[in-house]
Amino acid sequence: MSLYSEKVMDHFKHPRNVGVIENADGIGEVGNAKCGDIMKIYLKIEGDIIADVKFETFGCGSAIASSSMATELIKGKPLKDALTLTNKAVAEALDGLPAYKMHCSVLAEEAIRAAILDYYKKNNLPYDPELFKERDHEHEHEGSGDGE
Ligand code: FES
Repeated sequence: MSLYSEKVMDHFKHPRNVGVIENADGIGEVGNAKCGDIMKIYLKIEGDIIADVKFETFGCGSAIASSSMATELIKGKPLKDALTLTNKAVAEALDGLPAYKMHCSVLAEEAIRAAILDYYKKNNLPYDPELFKERDHEHEHEGSGDGE
């Protein structure tokens, strides 16, 4: 089957960092209204570093693979790297996603930013609101083809 790369299938079948972090420093939950998929990201932050990250995704295989890859990409990294992580970078790290599945990777990008924003707000830390503005995503609003 060539629709999905081996990496997508690997992260879908063996997702990394699944679960919950008790007393997480930041939690972000986002959903896609069209397909109904939901993603939740938990962050443990030490200093400026993402010491641990876990996710729960109620969604399609591409959303699960995207969550798994995104957590791998930000674990142990400075917050600023996680803030600038794009869905494109997540999809590229997975060796690509079909165009109509790109919105699944957008969920991962948005959930991470939501979790960081939650951390900033909980701790009354100053942050640049520009970093949390909605971004334009190609294909974001394309439906998955089922359910419409
Ligand atoms: Fe909606 Fe994948 S996240 S179909």
